[in-house]
Amino acid sequence: MQTPWSIDADITKAETLPGKAYTDPRIFELSREKVFASSWQLLSDLDRLSRPGSVCPTRFIDGWIEEPLLFARDLEGGLHCVSNVCTHRGNLVCEKEGMEPSLKCRYHGRRFRHDGSFVSMPEFEGVQGFPSPKDDLPKVAFGQWKKLLFASLAPAQPFAQLAAFLQERVGWLPLENAVLDRDRSRSYDIAANWALYCDNYLEGFHIPYVHAGLNRVIDYGDYRTELFEGGSLQIGTAKNPRDAFELPRSSPDHGQLIAAYYFWLFPNTMLNFYPWGLSVNRVKPRAVDRTTVEYLIYVWDTTRIDQGAGRGLDALEQEDQEVVVSVQHGVRSRLYDRGRYSPSRETGLHHFHRMLTLSLNA
Ligand code: FES
Ligand SMILES: [Fe+2]
Repeated sequence: MQTPWSIDADITKAETLPGKAYTDPRIFELSREKVFASSWQLLSDLDRLSRPGSVCPTRFIDGWIEEPLLFARDLEGGLHCVSNVCTHRGNLVCEKEGMEPSLKCRYHGRRFRHDGSFVSMPEFEGVQGFPSPKDDLPKVAFGQWKKLLFASLAPAQPFAQLAAFLQERVGWLPLENAVLDRDRSRSYDIAANWALYCDNYLEGFHIPYVHAGLNRVIDYGDYRTELFEGGSLQIGTAKNPRDAFELPRSSPDHGQLIAAYYFWLFPNTMLNFYPWGLSVNRVKPRAVDRTTVEYLIYVWDTTRIDQGAGRGLDALEQEDQEVVVSVQHGVRSRLYDRGRYSPSRETGLHHFHRMLTLSLNA
């Protein structure tokens, strides 16, 4: 299936995604394999795998691509990501996070090392050609940037490329000191297509119209978007030096008042850095018009959490969700098809629509 639309590479000529991109169940279904299966997903962090023998079972994208995966640290300290499905008859090998000296399937006792390699199996004497490499848990591609752990089922892009972009820009931030704050983390269900949520995230054009509070602390005239292969970065500058990062000389932005770095990794991962820490949004499709957004809050400086662009994130989120749900009603209209882009304010959106269309047609 090819999409019945294309997105011109020239933003001044291009039209936006048509309404059916957000409403057609066939497009939605196509995106599962073409867009998500080959993406990098943020699945865990090093704090959950700090000691030899740590195990952390997870799903690739729960509710969408349920693939059971397992991060594990072996007894020598090596980190691995493997399938969490037993190669005997498919039971889940590891059911809860914690410490395991080795991996043992509780159904019939098959054992594996933390790197997924087969160790032993009761009652299999005489089975021909056994064990073979097929009895190992399949290895899964994973990537680490600072304490964040990502995995991909079939990477369309090397993780190192994404990590290099993050590292160059915000590699100096003390993410290793950040702690996941479970009380501040949440998850929201939104009655809209996942891509509409991303569309809204990818432009600061709406800030003066939708976010009066945020608009008071950032300099809208100076708001900017940079594109890179596999994602984009939006930078908000602070009106008040009190709300800005203390940038080291090594930062390419040294000398500026940066209030926030908003990184988006195609298709559904957002890493928002503020002077107090990081907020992560993981956008999980549920149905063509239903999405869950999971928020994880990592804090390294609690004293700054109530100031600047990273303050009052719940209210900001409500303001965004209201418009996203409204747009979902609008794109269903038979009188709406496509719009045009602002070349100064919607480059991130155009970049996303190009990537999405290219992936759907790949
Ligand atoms: S399913 Fe795991 S040992 Fe049988
Ligand atoms: Fe917004």
